[in-house]
Amino acid sequence: MNVAIASDHGGVNIRKEIISLMEELNIEYIDLGCECSTSVDYPDYAVPVANKVASGEVERGILICGTGIGMSIAANKVKGIRCALVHDLYSAKVTREHNDSNILAMGERVIGPGLAREIAKTWLTTSFEAGRHKNRVNKIASYEAIHK
Ligand code: RB5
Repeated sequence: MNVAIASDHGGVNIRKEIISLMEELNIEYIDLGCECSTSVDYPDYAVPVANKVASGEVERGILICGTGIGMSIAANKVKGIRCALVHDLYSAKVTREHNDSNILAMGERVIGPGLAREIAKTWLTTSFEAGRHKNRVNKIASYEAIHK
């Protein structure tokens, strides 16, 4: 698997934590920043990651900002993206099994690095269950195809 990861200035520490996790798990990644010491705009980081996932250049994406909310809103504007904002382990597991989420968003001002690491590990290592969930995910894609 390969993953594109980015954060704004509010998510730099958790981004570094998740990069060290991916190195431990031997997961290939592309780090799209930010290298920010001042404040930046989260859509400038969410959209490039989402575009890489949507185009198939990478399989998954991880986005971190202060709350995770801005990143998830921006990423979900890109066709084909199912970005899940997750701050607990149950949701990390189930959003992969049921939603086949292809981007994980988290907020560094909401959770600490230890929990973020566990969430990312669960999310990265859990498979989509397909079955009845496939039809539901397909309905999202059909909606996207009609409403351009
Ligand atoms: C930046 O201050 C903050 O607004 C951003 O990191 C994020 O929380 C937005 O949703």
